[in-house]
Amino acid sequence: MKVLGIETSCDDTGIAIYDSKKGLLINEVYNQNILNNKNGGVIPELASRQHMESITLLLKKIFITEKEMKDINLIAYTAGPGLVSSLLVGATFACSLGFSRNIPVIPVNHMEAHLLSPMLHSELIKFPFIALLVSGKHTQIIAVHQLGQYELLGNCLDDAAGEAFDKIAKLLGLKYPGGPELSKLACSGIKNVFHFPRPMIHHSNLNFSFSGLKTYVSKVIEKSDKTLQTKANIARAFEDAVIDTLLIKTNKALKEKKWKRLVIAGGVSANYLLRQKAEKMIQEDFNGKVFYTKLDLSTDNGGMIAYLGFLRQKQAKKPQLNILVKPKWSISDLCLFSL
Ligand code: KG4
Ligand code: ZN
Repeated sequence: MKVLGIETSCDDTGIAIYDSKKGLLINEVYNQNILNNKNGGVIPELASRQHMESITLLLKKIFITEKEMKDINLIAYTAGPGLVSSLLVGATFACSLGFSRNIPVIPVNHMEAHLLSPMLHSELIKFPFIALLVSGKHTQIIAVHQLGQYELLGNCLDDAAGEAFDKIAKLLGLKYPGGPELSKLACSGIKNVFHFPRPMIHHSNLNFSFSGLKTYVSKVIEKSDKTLQTKANIARAFEDAVIDTLLIKTNKALKEKKWKRLVIAGGVSANYLLRQKAEKMIQEDFNGKVFYTKLDLSTDNGGMIAYLGFLRQKQAKKPQLNILVKPKWSISDLCLFSL
């Protein structure tokens, strides 16, 4: 079975083909970093216009022959969560393509796709496990009982981890998206020159709040001498504070459930220090194992959408011009999405 995956939830346009026998055949992404850099972030209207241009270019790029198009058995697209104008581009494109070629279409949840993406490459991941989902808009701890059964244990109350990375990076004068840039700068930072709070670690719940930390760090930046070394030291302390907070709460979740398997997914899971510290924690405290996906599949892409389409193929509908998106779509409410 071959699944075409289409991702346009925010600012990355992704198209991929997943083959159930051979794995991921193609995974192409066009990002909008130049545009976002110019504007200091994502502007929804501009992002959707850019998707309109990129999506046809990408389709032309990946389909060499008409025969290859005929080999596609299913089209999966991101229906939410995300920016409505961006989601609509991918949804309209997927539904029109399915309708015109008589291929079934399936709308899928972006966060579920992140969550299951490490399974694309590792057969060792077995249910149940704890998932730490960390992206530009989400910071969640989820007890994953089985495919489609997700218990939300912790959520972010304000800024998500990726958003906090991006905002602090901007204050440090770095490019967009700031997470990877801040992380690079932090490598030359000296540990413990600055120390920032680990928010909400003494609360009994598993929720997160990074907005106070962001304000605290922004004041430190303002008062600092702004030399490159000071910026690197601040970046290092900030990265440590966010990662420690994420892992302290994840540790609690693993203990609560008495589970030993951890999956970390979403854009921030590309962070090297997070992976390093998570591995240390899971080995020392649980004698368990942590899984993530390959680096190019950590941030938004069509590959994870195509793979989730394959896993959820039973829910696919006959091609119809009924275009569905759900900008606010919680992973713990998947069944509410009436197709
Ligand atoms: O999952 P994703 O590609 O998009 C959303 O669904 O939001 O995540 C993007 C986020 C951005 O905030 C970006 O700065 C962050 O992931 N990110 C990182 C790293 N790579 C991407 N944050 C920290 N360290 C990284 N290496
Ligand atoms: Zn994402």
